[in-house]
Amino acid sequence: MEKPIKIALCGIGTVGKGVLELFDKNMALIRQRIGKDIQIVKALEKDPEKIKSSGLTSDQVSDSLDFVLEDPEIDIVIELIGGDTIAKEIILRALDNGKSVVTANKALLAEHSDVIFPATYAAKGFFGFEASVAGGIPVLRNLREGFTGDEISEVSGIINGTANYILSSMTENNDDFETALAEAQKLGYAEADPTFDIEGNDTAHKVCILLNLAYNGLFDFKQIHIEGITKIEPIDIEIAREMGYTIKLLGKAISSEKGYDGRVHPSLIKNNNLLASVKGPFNALLIKGNFLGPTISYGAGAGSHPTASAVVGDIIEIGRLLANDRKHQTFPLSCTNETLIKKELISIDEIETEYYLRLTVQDKAGVLAKVTKIMGDNNISIRSMIQKSENNGSVVSVPVVFFTHNAKEKDVQRSIEQIDQLSFIEQPTRLIRIDA
Ligand SMILES: NC(=O)c1ccc[n+]([C@@H]2O[C@H](COP(=O)([O-])OP(=O)(O)OC[C@H]3O[C@@H](n4cnc5c(N)ncnc54)[C@H](OP(=O)(O)O)[C@@H]3O)[C@@H](O)[C@H]2O)c1
Repeated sequence: MEKPIKIALCGIGTVGKGVLELFDKNMALIRQRIGKDIQIVKALEKDPEKIKSSGLTSDQVSDSLDFVLEDPEIDIVIELIGGDTIAKEIILRALDNGKSVVTANKALLAEHSDVIFPATYAAKGFFGFEASVAGGIPVLRNLREGFTGDEISEVSGIINGTANYILSSMTENNDDFETALAEAQKLGYAEADPTFDIEGNDTAHKVCILLNLAYNGLFDFKQIHIEGITKIEPIDIEIAREMGYTIKLLGKAISSEKGYDGRVHPSLIKNNNLLASVKGPFNALLIKGNFLGPTISYGAGAGSHPTASAVVGDIIEIGRLLANDRKHQTFPLSCTNETLIKKELISIDEIETEYYLRLTVQDKAGVLAKVTKIMGDNNISIRSMIQKSENNGSVVSVPVVFFTHNAKEKDVQRSIEQIDQLSFIEQPTRLIRIDA
């Protein structure tokens, strides 16, 4: 009888459990689509409860790496442990031992891309990482195989469901940040420690992977500008709404005449932009190509089942290659090994966009004249201004919001530094970039 393709599953957590369920439910379909039998025969896990509920027998599970990595019978290793310690060793050793690897580990791929991707190019086995960005939306496959005829100028969007859930709650229920975060945690949309999601690091990991794929290079995660959503206040949401905008956390991977630009920050986007209607934990990505024009993909960006769907999609692609005795897959990224070189990002100081600036000022004569003079002296032209009255105890302070025309980031930052030194400024000025 023909030998089945054999899989070892490392990590039976949220995604690993989803993969086991998907295999259980869609096994016949998966075999039909590969054209060969495929089985999960081993797992790496240390939690006895997870092992018990996995349906695998105790002799199929171990917490020893050698148990899966040194077994010549294993064809595909699925790394779903996360982090950059043991996961890195699993991926590199598995590739080194001639096995194919599927992973969802965006943190590892972003922060160690200079080690992992060259190893995947050199390996005999195949590599899949679709689940690392936007869960169930096959955006990496689109970039690697669908839009390869195009010069890509932008990949940007909402790629963190937790942050989007919180901003959606703040927008729809007028919640403050803390209330929206607590609600997200209660419903399982935010982890007990949500730092990576709300501070933008998770989005930045995905931006780094998207930069690598869209622009044929290896980018340095540390060069990505990262701002999270923790400083967004209900007043920002309210004023954005009055002016026809919605606030979203965007990840951006852009190529322009200035160079490559990778950044993560909250943005005001026009309500008629499709991304503004992406609510709750959902993700959406805009890709612009020079022949393609703009396309948007929308769907579940995380969660056990959507992420498992992406993992199994990779398993099926690799299963087909193994079943047909193919020697090469499409490149792991979108370019050949020879053209895969390190590339630099421009600094955030170099960007130009429109800005929302919220100042908190003492309500007295002459304040606006001084602020607008500083902005004028720094080449910033004001498009509109809103002033809100608010009594915060003994001192009457008012939020004053300026919407600027296109301006240079470094000019805006210099203005803010000067404005925040004025004696009548009560709080540091808040800046949100406008997605023009
Ligand atoms: N969850 C999502 O929606 C999602 C979406 C996209 C991508 N991802 C990525 O997918 C990966 C897995 O995420 P997850 O949410 O499934 O994580 P998870 O629920 O924490 O699962 C990880 C599993 O690995 C086990 N593990 C940790 N160290 C181990 C070791 N040394 N040996 C054996 N087992 C070990 C953990 O056991 P213990 O719990 O006992 O430590 C846990 O069962 C991560 O890279 C993540 O970024 C997740």
